Amino acid sequence: MEPTLRRSLLFTPGLRVDRFAKALSGGADMVCIDLEDGVAPDFKIEARDKAIPALFDSALGGTGGTGSGAARAMRINPIKTQFGMRDMLALCEFGTAPPALLLPKIESPEDVRWVAELLDEADYSKTRLMVIIETGRALEAALDIASASPRIDTLLFGAADLSAELGSSLDWEALHYARGRAVHAASSAGLDLIDVPSLDIKDEAGLRREARLAQRMGFTGKAAIHPVQIAPINDVFSPSAETISIARRVIEAYEASDAGVALLDGKVVEMPVVRAMRRALAIADKIAAGTS
Ligand code: GLV
Ligand code: MG
Repeated sequence: MEPTLRRSLLFTPGLRVDRFAKALSGGADMVCIDLEDGVAPDFKIEARDKAIPALFDSALGGTGGTGSGAARAMRINPIKTQFGMRDMLALCEFGTAPPALLLPKIESPEDVRWVAELLDEADYSKTRLMVIIETGRALEAALDIASASPRIDTLLFGAADLSAELGSSLDWEALHYARGRAVHAASSAGLDLIDVPSLDIKDEAGLRREARLAQRMGFTGKAAIHPVQIAPINDVFSPSAETISIARRVIEAYEASDAGVALLDGKVVEMPVVRAMRRALAIADKIAAGTS
């Protein structure tokens, strides 16, 4: 699989193509044009008509998924609604494969497979899928959904919709089980996992705290609703210089011993630690290579 950094995903509203253009060069790893909850029902058609050409407009900067600049994606409407079905049809009729689609309100692996089949029919072999886990049914079927198509590379944890459905608050503690289940599904399927955006754009300390908690649980990134959130998110999800240096020493010590276990600074180093350290170095290498 091509190297892809997925620390930050910035949503821009479908009607505001100007914001999409600006966001592409604002430091986010991914920028996602939103046709779903960021667009009121009366403006859905206008947003779709504007956003689809913008998604492919190479003059806007960024990339389709590799190289420097942000990767592009589009959140369509839920595929079991008329808006969502028309979004899919419009994308298929456009004639160019979208780099990535973000699918909200998915409830089962069949929902994902249906989208994948439409993409197959359109000959869009390169289109990647990201799936939002934000319904009770999706949470129950999270691992099956995560494994539903080889096109999926990322899950998103949709805390806003999920908490509304569960009747819970949006607090970190209230959604701990649900986040844990999403981590389990994404990691078992080998996918990246992006946390819900923080809604208070003025609260950088709160954003950093939530991002750190998510990172410690196994999330690989966090979504954003404003460009000012990108730098703190990228920072939290990038291995620090100290982590990189420790990782190098751990791997060196492990590789130098032929017993399958080493001792470093009084601590035992076994394979699981080495795997975690290799993962941190792989992310650091991608950052250093400037890929996204
Ligand atoms: C994202 O879509 C959410 O509902 O949190
Ligand atoms: Mg949602």
